[in-house]
Amino acid sequence: MTPRPGDIVELDIATLAYGGQGVARLDELVVFVRGAVPGDCVRAKVTRRKKSYAEARVIELLTPSPRRIAAVCEHTEDCGGCEWQTLSYEAQLEYKQQQVVDSLQRLGHLEGYELEPIRGMDVPWRYRNKMELSFGEAEDGELLLGLHRRGSWREIVETTDCRLASVRINRARQAVADAARALGLRPYGRDHHHGLLRHLVVREGLSSGDLLLNLFVAARFPEEAELVARVAADCGCTSFGITVNETPADAAVGDGPHMLLGPPHIRERLAGVELQVPAAAFLQTNSAMCETLYAIALAFAAPEASRPAVDLYCGIGSLSLPLARGARQVQAVEIQEEAVVAARENAARSGITNVDFHARDVRPLLKLPPHPTLDAGRDDGAERPAVVMVDPPRAGLARRALQRAAALGAERFVYVSCNPTTLAGNGAELAELGYSLRRVAAVDMFPQTHHIETVALFTRNS
Ligand SMILES: C[S@@+](CC[C@H](N)C(=O)[O-])C[C@H]1O[C@@H](n2cnc3c(N)ncnc32)[C@H](O)[C@@H]1O
Repeated sequence: MTPRPGDIVELDIATLAYGGQGVARLDELVVFVRGAVPGDCVRAKVTRRKKSYAEARVIELLTPSPRRIAAVCEHTEDCGGCEWQTLSYEAQLEYKQQQVVDSLQRLGHLEGYELEPIRGMDVPWRYRNKMELSFGEAEDGELLLGLHRRGSWREIVETTDCRLASVRINRARQAVADAARALGLRPYGRDHHHGLLRHLVVREGLSSGDLLLNLFVAARFPEEAELVARVAADCGCTSFGITVNETPADAAVGDGPHMLLGPPHIRERLAGVELQVPAAAFLQTNSAMCETLYAIALAFAAPEASRPAVDLYCGIGSLSLPLARGARQVQAVEIQEEAVVAARENAARSGITNVDFHARDVRPLLKLPPHPTLDAGRDDGAERPAVVMVDPPRAGLARRALQRAAALGAERFVYVSCNPTTLAGNGAELAELGYSLRRVAAVDMFPQTHHIETVALFTRNS
């Protein structure tokens, strides 16, 4: 059968693709089915046809999978943020583990390593320490504050109780929406580019109880002080800043935050280190599971007191600092200037003096002036790092950066990855560069979604 867009087909869902869609076969054709989980039999509408695959959307659930459970979130039909919540948590963990293994094998030809059991959460809800919300307008003109409707860049769903966010973060969302409505403030229109309120980013420190609100607006406005007073009284936020985004770009970026209340950061304690996290700097979004992730990464790294170590894509130093406690010296590299300033301050506050933070792009490291540790791979001296740790964004490491990192000659290469497909590609390149994959551990930082975090240990072939 050669289905065309618009055709209605009956499908048995066999497995899940990386990205969260159900996978079925129609004769030899692979069909990716949105809204289906393995074990379902569905009637689906074909939405797209490519040479080697098709895409479809469920229109009727004929026989539900035995692993299907009822959605708990009241916004599930509209929001679409927790696309795996209809799959039992046990099954979610199984599929994530399998997707890591499949990616490594299929895309990286990597086998023969020790696979640790995936680490999941005891209570896989309300784990996010950061929510990025958008303002919008209902058809009747009512201001809305929440998440984008599934597949829509225009429409906003008023997520009064997002189950991924803490009760406090949801309370903060409500406080800002209520205060904005009471003061008659208007959302910025995505079509006409008029209006004021654009985004709200809420961040919470799990260990400190800090709650930072960063309001993204088109321009400064007279009611700011009144808004902050109302919101703080309502939700108990510890910091409130305003960031001005004058551009048409529909993103939480701009000039700020200009603080109206409290400091421009939250505090968090991870791997035994007290951290200050600037409003716009990266922090793993699941603080509880981050402890597990870092414990594994640091155990794989096994820093040596007499040898240097390297931490690439170091952010605010949340891994560099505990790494430094076991290493002679750490060279850490991060592109975001603000994060590096925070990393240096975090080191100073913790009394950790053996880390050098470099505010630069990892990619052109080859062009750096000679550096004793970053150039030590050429000999076998004491300057050669015992371990290189990398924690790149989803795209992974560019080939030249990976070559350069491998050329440092460390015995161990620890790769913290939020995307198993780029981990697999980089893993294959590392194999060509003289490293073998030894251990892999997946950590479920993102329950109810298809996202997967993995730590992989490579060792240098002698
Ligand atoms: C996944 S985060 C990891 C941060 C840190 N290891 C942690 O656990 O919090 C990736 C970091 O890489 C930084 N980054 C992105 N591209 C970069 C580049 N080309 N060179 C250096 N750092 C980069 C980002 O700013 C971000 O802080």
